[in-house]
Amino acid sequence: MLTNRINTLSESITIAITTLAQELKAQGKDILSFSAGEPDFGTPQVIKDAAIDAINKDFTKYTAVDGVPALREAIAGKLKRDNGLTYSTNQIMVNNGAKHSLFNLFSATIENGAEVIIPAPYWVTYPELVKYCGGKVVEIETHDCDSFKITPQQLKEAITPKTRMLILTTPSNPTGSIYSKEELIALGKVLEGTDIIVASDEMYEKLTYKGTFTSCAAVSDDMYKRTVTINGLSKSVAMTGWRFGYMAAADTELIKATKKLQSQSTSNINSITQLAAIAGLDGSADADISMMREAFIKRRDEAVKLMNEIDGLSVTKPDGAFYLFVNIKKVSNDSMKFSKELLEKTGVAVVPGVGFGSEGYFRFSFATDIESIRTGIKRIEEFVKTFKPDFGI
Ligand SMILES: Cc1ncc(COP(=O)(O)O)c(C=O)c1O
Repeated sequence: MLTNRINTLSESITIAITTLAQELKAQGKDILSFSAGEPDFGTPQVIKDAAIDAINKDFTKYTAVDGVPALREAIAGKLKRDNGLTYSTNQIMVNNGAKHSLFNLFSATIENGAEVIIPAPYWVTYPELVKYCGGKVVEIETHDCDSFKITPQQLKEAITPKTRMLILTTPSNPTGSIYSKEELIALGKVLEGTDIIVASDEMYEKLTYKGTFTSCAAVSDDMYKRTVTINGLSKSVAMTGWRFGYMAAADTELIKATKKLQSQSTSNINSITQLAAIAGLDGSADADISMMREAFIKRRDEAVKLMNEIDGLSVTKPDGAFYLFVNIKKVSNDSMKFSKELLEKTGVAVVPGVGFGSEGYFRFSFATDIESIRTGIKRIEEFVKTFKPDFGI
């Protein structure tokens, strides 16, 4: 007998497509996957060395639930240096990946139909976790013509007395759009006088290709008090499998509450990852980060150019992250059908936009080598030529 809570949870569409691609590969098909959300680079050597050192020193026991003090100090140092944010170590909580940070945060703050505003397209996990915690998802639709960003007016209209939280992702997965300082100030003004929490997911902060990045919490005192900053190292230093993420909040009671939950569920994160993560945060891996950023810029530029040459498809150049959110509305209003057929006929795996809350798009990850990108987009071009349009949008 399963609970209603678990029955309402959908499986990640990204994982579903990746699984189908793996099955086809196992059957001997030539598969090119652009569906996964992880860099193809190895973890920087300096981080691996710190992990090896931790093992050799037998740093293999339970640690403090919220992470060893040296790690929380490294996080505080990073937030100060990169984001101009001052947090003490009791305002920081270390989790098993940023996904776990979100789970703990929602568990501690959302229940009984509390409304959570999520701009769409969104990262697939948010609505599922909000529902799992008993919250109600309130979507704000955005479009490519607005660079997929919500306006203060849209935010104002979405707020009700039941609104508990606004989730902002900057840079965004799947669109790569980034909120400027001015845009964040304007959104923050709408929230003044409310008790709405901002969950600011800044996972792709290091992968920004234009201007300077601004953290939500940095734009005003009011935003600092209401924002929970979520970040990690999965994307910036290719540490997806290590499982490290964190949240930082002015509200020490909130941090204490998530620590209580973690103490009764997963306990501390892997001790070895903790020491390795310090090397990912303290500047030791900065040269590796720059190298990966440069590679992503080249791949993005090539992928955008080639994708826009395809008759019927269009994409705006993303300012951050490593995804293209490709508009297919001239060809299809059923992104699931389009993506499945694309995979079955050409071996190219992309993620249908419907999974991100926006029909008429697919997400193409350019976190892979440039030759595969070229071949993959060529196959997409051939596929679109033969695809029978199913208009409607
Ligand atoms: C926007 C966003 N937030 C959080 C995560 C989760 O990252 P982690 O590997 O730290 O759990 C992802 C991963 O895809 C993401 O795209």
